[in-house]
Amino acid sequence: MDPNSSSLNNSSNNITGGGVKKIQDMKLIIEILVNDQCSISFDELRKHYLVKLYAQFELNRSQLIKQIKRHGYLSIGSADDHMAIDRVSVYCNRSIQMLELLSEQEISAYVQFERSSVFFYKQYKEGASNEELFEDVGSGEQTVSPYQQWVLPNIEFATLWDNLIYDDSVKERLLSYASTILLFSSAKVDSNIVSNNKIVLLTGPPGSGKTSLAKALSQKLAIRHSDRYAYPQLIEINSHSLFSKWFSESGKLVMKVFEKIREILDDPSCFVTLLIDEVESLAAARTAALSGSEPTDSIRVVNAFLTQLDQIKSYPNLLIVATSNLTTAIDLAFIDRADLKLFIGPPSLSARKRILKSIDKELMDKGILYANQPIDKKQQKALRSSIYTSTNGFSGRSLRKLPFLSVANYQTKSLEFPIPLAEYQIELNELIQREKEFNKVIV
Ligand SMILES: Nc1ncnc2c1ncn2[C@@H]1O[C@H](COP(=O)(O)OP(=O)(O)OP(=O)(O)O)[C@@H](O)[C@H]1O
Ligand SMILES: [Mg+2]
Repeated sequence: MDPNSSSLNNSSNNITGGGVKKIQDMKLIIEILVNDQCSISFDELRKHYLVKLYAQFELNRSQLIKQIKRHGYLSIGSADDHMAIDRVSVYCNRSIQMLELLSEQEISAYVQFERSSVFFYKQYKEGASNEELFEDVGSGEQTVSPYQQWVLPNIEFATLWDNLIYDDSVKERLLSYASTILLFSSAKVDSNIVSNNKIVLLTGPPGSGKTSLAKALSQKLAIRHSDRYAYPQLIEINSHSLFSKWFSESGKLVMKVFEKIREILDDPSCFVTLLIDEVESLAAARTAALSGSEPTDSIRVVNAFLTQLDQIKSYPNLLIVATSNLTTAIDLAFIDRADLKLFIGPPSLSARKRILKSIDKELMDKGILYANQPIDKKQQKALRSSIYTSTNGFSGRSLRKLPFLSVANYQTKSLEFPIPLAEYQIELNELIQREKEFNKVIV
């Protein structure tokens, strides 16, 4: 259907003016994971594979649109003729909440596969490398690993982004912020006129997915900006070892770490996402300095760190993501430097439903659970709703842990395997109630 046809315009009038704009801005983003054995160039693949892919998409159009509307994305294993492609993931540049406002027909009318942005990429299989540095301590030298480094896109983060589930458009805002940094850098916008420190601060309760989100973001940037940066990397600074008193005899270690980072940034084909996890240790170091016996050392570390941050921000190929689960204790000088501060809370009801359903699916796909016909459908529905509502306040981390324990518990009671879904849910619900009681006791 022609997207400008009058029938569509009429149907769009049923939704708000913002709604019309939402459809018009809608675009698909297709990420294509190429098999690492494949020797065909991305340009060749683009020429030959895409036409076939679009034809396949057209054949399954309604199914595809349904999935994108429901999950915000779609990921399909692809067995092409030459075994060149491992996976195709299709995303929409609108958040799932916005898609909910539109009907499948409206989305379908605007989706033109040929107009999608397409990114081909391969994944590195090597895990993190631990950089070891030497530090002088009173009695001599010792090695410390104040940071870890990954070359991206990395298989370790392959499914991270898709499996982080939030209700509001946290992921889209974060990605859009990071992409704008890259846009400003490539346009060489004068930072004395439009300033940005390239720092994002993610705060929120433990287990809400802050560290995972930062890593997933670095992977997304690596995939979607590979035309500009051939060697994207993630560097995770271990704040505890950098700021703990033991390692902070002087600010020298901080200097050494930043020296290494600058060496990487000097290569314009590298893009670095610098993750400073648990940045509250910076504030702790300063507080310790003010009340402790050796104030000068800790203050020197904190100041060296902030000065180094100010210096590296002039690099165009850098994004800094800091995380903290103690909002009040973060160093004020650091908060002041952050351009974007995002609160990452525990999952809402609908996010919890999506997380738990994704777990059921994984356990069924892997043959651990099977969907049996419940004897009493009403009871089954009540059980499911109890699971969803009583997990209010649970972190994403706890939600992802509970199913494992439920399976383990079930196996102590019964030999039946695979486990019927209904039985597993009874076990899960009991576990949730016990967990709630336990939390009450320790609060
Ligand atoms: N909203 C969410 N959706 C899906 N999974 C989640 C969500 N939040 C957390 N998780 C999962 O919980 C686990 C822990 O997440 P992560 O370590 O990133 O949390 P964190 O906020 O950094 O915690 P902490 O503050 O303790 O460091 C990960 O496996 C992550 O995938
Ligand atoms: Mg964390």
